[in-house]
Amino acid sequence: MNFKEYIESNRQAVRSEIMRYLPMREPRGHYRIAREYSERMGSYRRPGLLMLSGEMFGARKADLLLPGAAMQASEDWILVHDDIEDDSEMRRGKPALHKLYGNGLAINAGDAVHIAMWRMLKDHMVNVGLERGGPLYDKFYDMMERTVEGQFLETDFICNVRRLSKAGEDLYFRIIGSKTCYYTVYGPMQLGALVAGVDSEVLDALKEVGEPAGVAFQITDDILDMTADEKVFGKKRFGDLYEGKLTLIILDAYKRASKDERARVDAIFRKERAQKTPGEIDFMRGLIEKHGSIEYARKVAKEYGKRAEEAAKRHGSIFPENEFKTTLLAALGELYVRRY
Ligand code: IPE
Ligand code: MG
Ligand code: MG
Ligand code: MG
Repeated sequence: MNFKEYIESNRQAVRSEIMRYLPMREPRGHYRIAREYSERMGSYRRPGLLMLSGEMFGARKADLLLPGAAMQASEDWILVHDDIEDDSEMRRGKPALHKLYGNGLAINAGDAVHIAMWRMLKDHMVNVGLERGGPLYDKFYDMMERTVEGQFLETDFICNVRRLSKAGEDLYFRIIGSKTCYYTVYGPMQLGALVAGVDSEVLDALKEVGEPAGVAFQITDDILDMTADEKVFGKKRFGDLYEGKLTLIILDAYKRASKDERARVDAIFRKERAQKTPGEIDFMRGLIEKHGSIEYARKVAKEYGKRAEEAAKRHGSIFPENEFKTTLLAALGELYVRRY
């Protein structure tokens, strides 16, 4: 079974579990808006990694469902807030929630899914007992805390710093270390493993494998933002340039640009999203093309992909030999050769 098939085999069960915690009730408008991102569904990559890792280490599928649903619910609410923080236009192929209902109701919808997530985790803890469930709850909290810290760094850059001359690759790596490496890759794998009751040695190994895989994943995501089909990717093309995101691509182009070009980029980065013109975005695209910055990013992503493979080989003996291991290792590889 490949990773995509694995995700599909669990998708409906995870989705139903989320909906069970967000039933339609009064006030109906509130729940209708709250359920919207969960109904649109995303790639389900995070619950996929969580459940796959859990099954690989011997956890029962029934015990993985609630943690998997909590994982997906966390994405469903944090993206509602993230879309406001980034002032994004589209999510999962449709308008972002705040574009449909305004910031106030969208923030409120995110809150509803957020509190449902903690309830799922509490129920899981009651189901499996404190000894098994406690460490999972703590890991989940730690992962979310790091993610929210990373969101601070990124939002602060977008809203306040707004200067590429004040940022560097180190800030980029700090940001993606939380939102991508931890939250998207090794956190979900560690959570699944904790359902199976693994020890800290296994958690450390998962981190060593997932960290470079996460870097490769995020750089690939940044490349897709500039190259992917909007319908397949579900987000507006060049969104990162409009949003003033810090990416390796724009950092590289900026580093190689002339003094005048830099001044123009600085002026664009100081503008609000809505004030940025297509001509200004084109200017930055041209700069990126001229300096081969996408190729540069591809090279770095490939390097990190290789590091992930080496780490997986190094820790090979920690992963039990079963069908899930094959799928999981392939899934990690697919994180950075994907097109969606
Ligand atoms: C998403 O980060 C937020 C988290 C995963 C916590 P981004 O802002 O980079 O993601 P997109 O581009 O909006 O999907
Ligand atoms: Mg963001
Ligand atoms: Mg965003
Ligand atoms: Mg992105």
